[in-house]
Amino acid sequence: QDPEAQSMLEAHEWLTKLYSHMLRNSKEGKQALQYMLDRGFTEEIIREYQIGFSPTSPSFVVTFLEKKGYHPQTMVKAGLLNVNDKGDYSDRFRGRIMFPLRNHLGKTVAFAGRSLGDQQPKYLNSPETDLFQKGRLLFNFDLARSAIRKTKTIILFEGYADVIAARQAGVENGVATMGTSISEIQAQLIDRYAEQAIICYDGDEAGMNAAAKAAKLLKLTGCQINVARLPEGMDPDDYIKKHGGDRFKKEVIDASDPYTSFIINYLRRNYNLQLEGDRIAYIEKVLQEVAQLDRAIEREHYLKEVAADFDISMETLKDEVDQLKKRVP
Ligand code: UTP
Ligand code: MN
Ligand code: MN
Ligand code: MN
Ligand code: MN
Repeated sequence: QDPEAQSMLEAHEWLTKLYSHMLRNSKEGKQALQYMLDRGFTEEIIREYQIGFSPTSPSFVVTFLEKKGYHPQTMVKAGLLNVNDKGDYSDRFRGRIMFPLRNHLGKTVAFAGRSLGDQQPKYLNSPETDLFQKGRLLFNFDLARSAIRKTKTIILFEGYADVIAARQAGVENGVATMGTSISEIQAQLIDRYAEQAIICYDGDEAGMNAAAKAAKLLKLTGCQINVARLPEGMDPDDYIKKHGGDRFKKEVIDASDPYTSFIINYLRRNYNLQLEGDRIAYIEKVLQEVAQLDRAIEREHYLKEVAADFDISMETLKDEVDQLKKRVP
């Protein structure tokens, strides 16, 4: 392997250990550790994920990496240091809780640093580097792999904290993207390892819209898709901390909606069903979704709902769907 990439990897390995040590054993990291414990993360899970703390000094990492003999310019390329136009180096991550981002082999290739207060951004991530392309990596894939294989199911979360809280609660097949949008490569990766994907994003407008996008993209791979629903204003981590893992499994994961149900509900938000024009447009959209279902039994299930909701005969609806199916290539 090329020596520069090798030293970038090594430096990430060193810093994973160093940050983790600073969180668990240093005076400076005490407040950060307390913050994590107050959020309900156990010391055990903190150790398992090698969660750490980056000291506030601007040259803590500069000095450390220099002593280890790494070229500061290479460390800038690795996304660990910043450099200004005068050529002064400084630490990229300062005063943050550090989440190592590992690749599928379990090697740290990047970091996400969470601020302790309201400091912006909330999460500062490593830039894209030779080691780390965020569209190619799924957070936690290395640890989740065996549970994904066993259950043939992957759970897609929005945040690192959700994945970690889920694992702490015994839900081990969770992964997350870095930020809310999922790439085609990540979708293919999910499809390759799982038959079913359960999208479990935050219970807010942003989470809902991101879930719809992810569901549509994942659907194209042929994976079976479900979408979980969370109470307004709650994310999976909040839910688990409030109600526990068992209720999370039963009431959120097992109760997740099949793709078509989710889409039908999601579409409804764009229409005022009191208005006839909107109503017809909405029904048309729903029928387009239904027409894409392969099984007559499934089509019938949704058509019955439409028939009841809008007082239309099944015969009319079936005719409409048959017409639409003819148009589908
Ligand atoms: P959220 O804002 O939902 O954060 O962003 P969270 O995961 O619930 O984190 P906590 O519980 O407040 O600690 C979801 C994901 O979006 C990305 C991160 O990957 C985060 O996990 N994100 C969010 C960023 O990259 N930068 C940000 O400033 C915020
Ligand atoms: Mn698949
Ligand atoms: Mn969110
Ligand atoms: Mn969240
Ligand atoms: Mn959260």
